[in-house]
Amino acid sequence: MQAPDTRLATKLAGGFAIGSVAIPGRAVLAALSGYSDAAMRRVAREHGAPYCVHEVVLDRDVLAGGRLARRVLELDEDDHPIGGQLMGSEPASFAAAARAMVGAGYDVIDINFGCPVPKVLGRCRGGFLLGTPDLALEVVDRVLDAVGGARPVTVKLRRGLDDKIESERAFFAILDGAFARGIAAATIHPRTVAQRYDGASDWSFLRRVRDRMGSCTLLGSGDLFGPHDVARMLATTGVDGVTLARGAIGNPWIFAQVAALAAGLEPQAPTIGEQRVAIARHIELTMRLFGARGGPARARTQAIHHAAVHPDPVAVRDAFVAARTVDDLLAVLDSLYPASRAGERSARLSSFALAAQRVREASNSAGP
Ligand SMILES: Cc1cc2nc3c(=O)[nH]c(=O)nc-3n(C[C@H](O)[C@H](O)[C@H](O)COP(=O)(O)O)c2cc1C
Repeated sequence: MQAPDTRLATKLAGGFAIGSVAIPGRAVLAALSGYSDAAMRRVAREHGAPYCVHEVVLDRDVLAGGRLARRVLELDEDDHPIGGQLMGSEPASFAAAARAMVGAGYDVIDINFGCPVPKVLGRCRGGFLLGTPDLALEVVDRVLDAVGGARPVTVKLRRGLDDKIESERAFFAILDGAFARGIAAATIHPRTVAQRYDGASDWSFLRRVRDRMGSCTLLGSGDLFGPHDVARMLATTGVDGVTLARGAIGNPWIFAQVAALAAGLEPQAPTIGEQRVAIARHIELTMRLFGARGGPARARTQAIHHAAVHPDPVAVRDAFVAARTVDDLLAVLDSLYPASRAGERSARLSSFALAAQRVREASNSAGP
């Protein structure tokens, strides 16, 4: 187990603000398509997440008024503070969707300029807009106008389309322009769109952005798989906060581990009993959210990711993969997370990092 480093721990203390919204911690739940729904957010908050971002939604889906729009626009009273992230290609429809999200109670409106999925780029959305600064800034203008100061507006960006100098110029044209227009914060994932998830996230780029942007509120993203990564990113880049993405999938304990490290304590891996409680809760909340039709598949996907922190990750993973119904999922809990092992810790935190590596490899091909 890594000993707590008090120098790094001090970087984790306190919180920050996104405009008028106070965030009582440094490590928040990232927008995660297919994952950061109300169920994941609640489990994350129960483990200490101080702020959560809804998975990205298309502006036109918010405006369409169907089942998806209802799920996005009906927030639980205690699901706050929450950011709603929008993706699209049309400034006017971004603006209308932002207005609807403010009406629904979102505390922050976030604009996605980073998604690298080819289908998204082909439709001139997400990361595509990093190559069209004028259009990106028109989106920012229209969203700020629509929100009218009622809520902070933020942007999420990758560090450019690719490694060319023009891409970097376009990135800074968008970032400088967006702050000049009045955004409250920016989240930066310092990989390029072309890079997708190949290679490391370039934290030195975050340091450069910090040095250039003065006191602007910045959140860093990329390769945060444990509490020590969070402390290191805060210490080496000077960002105000970080967004936990793959490191939080199947691992809500990371929020408690960050809090422990901030308090100068040694972060603990979860016991089998704690894992059982959190996974059962996640399954129950997912079923409530998606119902009998969509629930089991979604709950299964989430459950599979929890395997990485179990002492026998391969057996757990195989068992969850084979599950088809909620009863099957609960039976896996009964057999592999039995009361007789409830107090057993899954692994030391060092092997925890190895387990997280497996999650990372598994999701490398998947996400935006
Ligand atoms: C499955 C998955 C879904 C994601 N969905 C979103 C999303 O909806 N919006 C967004 O801005 N970024 C999204 N991201 C990117 C993450 O928020 C984050 O920036 C990225 O994964 C880098 O952080 P990490 O290396 O710590 O995972 C997603 C990433 C993954 C793996």
